[in-house]
Amino acid sequence: MSEKIKYAVMVSGGGTNLQAIIDAQAAGKIPHGELALVLSNVPDAYALERAKKAGIPAVAITKKGFTDHEAYEEEMIRQLDAAGIEFIVLAGFLAILSEDFVKHYERRMINIHPSLIPSFCGEGFYGLKVHEAALAKGVKVSGATVHFVNEIPDGGEIILQKAVRVFRNDTPEKLQLRIMKQAEWKLLPRATELCCKELAKAKAKKKK
Ligand code: GAR
Repeated sequence: MSEKIKYAVMVSGGGTNLQAIIDAQAAGKIPHGELALVLSNVPDAYALERAKKAGIPAVAITKKGFTDHEAYEEEMIRQLDAAGIEFIVLAGFLAILSEDFVKHYERRMINIHPSLIPSFCGEGFYGLKVHEAALAKGVKVSGATVHFVNEIPDGGEIILQKAVRVFRNDTPEKLQLRIMKQAEWKLLPRATELCCKELAKAKAKKKK
């Protein structure tokens, strides 16, 4: 098999999607990828604990201590490069990334969003807010989407999508958990492998 693609998962919170990737990696379901770094923008994110328990290098880089956003992102890129990262998975990473950062990882960075894009997405739609908006609208199906990251929030090409039923007595929390279980935790590891496989193929071709 061709060389593995070293990837990072970037997080801000609980890290259940990170856990799904860790479990899939351990079960041999991401054979073209190697999870080499977990990067958090929140120092006490539980996701960092999950990484440590799995023996994966984990760092927190917070905006504090940097003079501006540019310097902050430069440090992130420096740490990603130092770990040899070729591909990035945003798994509940809730900070805004600049156009320069996004361009640097063009078609090498994906994100999971907890709705069926183009519904309930874009600026201000994250976490429970997405499910609150879906319930307020009265949709009968929602779901999750994995997409490439470009300069438009939640606007990049869609890679995988899965619909999930909405029930009459749903709360945002109930809907969030159902979407995670039925869609997010399956889609994200699958999309990670799909992308790593493509990148590994392209890398092998370049070497020839
Ligand atoms: C997930 O539901 C993810 O889809 C969402 O944040 C949650 C993170 O949970 N992301 C967004 O809303 C991005 N716009 P986790 O930390 O348990 O994986």
